[in-house]
Amino acid sequence: MPRYLSLGSLPKKRHTAHRVSPGYRHEGIYYEEVVSTQGFARAYSIVYHLRPPTRVRKVEAAGAWPVGRVEQPALRHHHLKTGKMPVAGDPVTGRVPMFTNADVTLWRCRPGEPQAELFRNAVADEIVFVHSGIGTLHTQFGRLPFRPFDYVVIPRCTTYRLDFEPAAGPPDLLVIESAGTIDFPRRYLNPDGQFRLGAPFAERDLHGPADLDTLDRNEDTPVLVKDGPRLTRYTLAHHPFDAVGWDGCVYPFTFNADDFEPITGTVHQPPPIHQTFEAAGGFVVCTFAPRLLDTHPDAIKVPYAHSNVESDEVLYYVRGTFGSRRGVEAGSFTLHPHGVPHGPHPGTIAASKDITRTDELAVMVDTFRPLFLTEQAVALDDPNYPYSWLE
Ligand SMILES: [Fe+2]
Repeated sequence: MPRYLSLGSLPKKRHTAHRVSPGYRHEGIYYEEVVSTQGFARAYSIVYHLRPPTRVRKVEAAGAWPVGRVEQPALRHHHLKTGKMPVAGDPVTGRVPMFTNADVTLWRCRPGEPQAELFRNAVADEIVFVHSGIGTLHTQFGRLPFRPFDYVVIPRCTTYRLDFEPAAGPPDLLVIESAGTIDFPRRYLNPDGQFRLGAPFAERDLHGPADLDTLDRNEDTPVLVKDGPRLTRYTLAHHPFDAVGWDGCVYPFTFNADDFEPITGTVHQPPPIHQTFEAAGGFVVCTFAPRLLDTHPDAIKVPYAHSNVESDEVLYYVRGTFGSRRGVEAGSFTLHPHGVPHGPHPGTIAASKDITRTDELAVMVDTFRPLFLTEQAVALDDPNYPYSWLE
């Protein structure tokens, strides 16, 4: 969880009247909403609204959004190119699922329209990785600007709208939908909860909402709520972005991949040095950021071949030249599953011998339970990829 933050006006003590005159229905107060995780046991925030957040005019079924997982007949490596997928939908409706299991679903999204209605994921945290696009995430916690290569972390039950600046070019997103709470690696924090000296990023690299949207709009406002595949449309009797203040440790925030401080050595360092987030035992997210390569005179500067033990490894290629792999491009996914080895492509060890740094940027998602390809992923899969290690 990010550090404690407060924005706007708050009463001196929790659960006491935050007075305003005349207030909604002349009750003379702002309305408290406690947003808490794991029941009331873990991190929480307290939000103060112009009106009670429970004013619902209509609840209606809005269909289903099933993710069609495909059982693979063979255990093998996969390579999908998604960088030129058709532009479709908006930043929510345009999401196309690629890989899924009970812990995580990875979506690609290349939206062509502004977000049509407010959205709220009721059962999953989301990380929206901004491959391209500049804009603002609007939530009940206020406005959060984002830019290319930001991880935009959106806690479950955050009502939001992703707005993009048209002049910044077409948006391109990787969305990581997580059943478990997104957190930082525990080993990065000292016993006092502060990022340790030597962790690859720290508090100054995390950015929460900068300003509130205190919208005083007493008008019907639809919100699309997703819990798993089920969709429900809530019509609220007023706009939910009506907070006058909040404080706590649950709120959306950004971390930019270019602020990841790589750890390097004289010889190859293992993937956990790239770790950025983890999700309650289900998976980890790593950032392969531009960095100096290993300095030992005999160092092999691309990763050693490895057999994944109890882990499926997805790499999403963002930017730069990928030293260990041939044939991938920005927007490619590779999936190297559990139980069979993968490693650098032929020729890449020799080609990297005299190189001193890499400009690659990639996002890795390592899951601890097997991943399934979706129907959409199967259509993009290269069946010859498992043989790409032959000369
Ligand atoms: Fe690997």
